[in-house]
Amino acid sequence: MKFYLDTANLDQIRAGAELGLVDGITTNPSLIAKEGMDFKTLVGKICEIIPGPVSAEVVATERDAMLKEARELAKVADNIIVKLPTIPEGVKALKRCVDEGIKVNMTLCFQPSQALIVAKIGATFCSPFLGRLDDIGHDGMTVLEEIRLIYDNFGLQTKILAASLRHPLHVVQAAKIGADIATMPYAVFDKLLDHPLTDIGLERFLADWKKTQS
Ligand code: E4P
Repeated sequence: MKFYLDTANLDQIRAGAELGLVDGITTNPSLIAKEGMDFKTLVGKICEIIPGPVSAEVVATERDAMLKEARELAKVADNIIVKLPTIPEGVKALKRCVDEGIKVNMTLCFQPSQALIVAKIGATFCSPFLGRLDDIGHDGMTVLEEIRLIYDNFGLQTKILAASLRHPLHVVQAAKIGADIATMPYAVFDKLLDHPLTDIGLERFLADWKKTQS
């Protein structure tokens, strides 16, 4: 399973890159807005740090305007993945992007039927937002399981990008189900290796070792 960071913060992206564990980046308009930098300049900088796929989202909501933004974003760097919302106009724009060879991550996916449609058209990634489903009392992981099953049934090549992950357990559950990628905020990424028993155990080992040295 690949790990992506869900952030547009350059410090977090550099920190993750130093660990050598970040396979890609997802951003969205809310994350970009937090950074107070010109969109394309920021995305370009992210692409210089991370050689893997970097998702950048359009803000238009009508096919031709989305397509115009998609073409411009695709020019920023070779590793840009254009993010389009999973709405009818987004699906129309997806078709055109696929025809033009622009790689697309279909975002704001909340149900398997949406995932099936975008995969049939040829999206490179489909992003089910699991935490946001949990937030409204639905079971995000069940939706993920259904998408995995459908893609496997038909050999659909679209990668499942498990998104809106809120804690390490979400990452583990998504891995068990077989999501191709987990994208997570830096705070979740940072917790993946943490366990208090690891820290206590190490402390004890070192204390015992020290005794043998005196
Ligand atoms: C993914 O591409 C999205 O940017 C992200 O996972 C949304 O997560 P949120 O629901 O925590 O905002």
